[in-house]
Amino acid sequence: MNIEFLKKLCVANGTSGHEHAISEIIRDEIKDLVDDVKTDALGNLIAHKKGPGKKMMLAGHMDQIGLMITHIDEEGFLRFAPIGGFSPTVLLSQRFVFPSGLVGVVGCERLDKPADIAIGKLYLDIGAKDEEAAKKLVKVGDVCVYVNPFAVNGDVVVTPALDDRIGCFIMIEALKKIKKSAFDLYFVFTSQEEVGLRGAKTSAYSIDPDYGLAFDVTASGDTPKSLPMPMKMYGGAAIKLKDNSVICHPTIVKHLEKCAEEGKIKYQYEILEMGGTDSGAIHVSRGGVPSGVISIASRHIHTPNEMCAISDIEACIALTVKALETEIK
Ligand code: CO
Ligand code: ZN
Repeated sequence: MNIEFLKKLCVANGTSGHEHAISEIIRDEIKDLVDDVKTDALGNLIAHKKGPGKKMMLAGHMDQIGLMITHIDEEGFLRFAPIGGFSPTVLLSQRFVFPSGLVGVVGCERLDKPADIAIGKLYLDIGAKDEEAAKKLVKVGDVCVYVNPFAVNGDVVVTPALDDRIGCFIMIEALKKIKKSAFDLYFVFTSQEEVGLRGAKTSAYSIDPDYGLAFDVTASGDTPKSLPMPMKMYGGAAIKLKDNSVICHPTIVKHLEKCAEEGKIKYQYEILEMGGTDSGAIHVSRGGVPSGVISIASRHIHTPNEMCAISDIEACIALTVKALETEIK
């Protein structure tokens, strides 16, 4: 597997609405593999690989969760609003990095008891002497993301932005491997998923696909005292049945099952009781689009330590290639 390219995608900085750096990396990697590639008004990167048959829209989101600076106080401390889902306990003491390279650390006001922690009690400390010094480095509206180290620990990768650079990676690696597509393919690297599937909504409208297939991380039910879940790390490619945004269409679920069985690809089912993904927007576009999701079971989602198994990533790539080369009957 091309770990170096995955690392390049994961260490790039791009929260919702600020996906430009990610989009540039992807455009460079795929431009010679597709017939046409363009960026739309909301920042979605849309690549068309012409093929026979019906239109299939693939979607993986480029954006990662981040923080937007809302206020700079007299002492030079910054307050922020979350972009996407953060828990205050996870935020505490983390490092964040701005596109300029500036690093801030999350501190907390004095609390009477630990349970009082809330995002409103937290601030970002960039070490500035005072307000004036802080304003030379950062302004209200600037955005930052978790500092992005990338580690390979034997059979797993650990890095903050696997959600959802891993989905983008699976799409790109599948695109490189497809020999004969059964569909007219639109690879969409979407913007603003983490704030409500916004890029998927507009791109699905403009593409008007016959089928939708999204790629994203999902939770893993194998950690100590986890909620019982059917999916786990090392369980293979996960075929989504449902989350809070979509009930996957039986046509797509059956297609993925059949492709996994025929290709002898390890798979499992996914039912996620919270959260959603781009298929949630695609399937309700226009008159409705039969949609599904290939997911990758990940530990520690929306923390700086998102973790996926390399064998699961490889299973997802293999399943994607097979699913795109096999007609839906
Ligand atoms: Co997410
Ligand atoms: Zn995601």
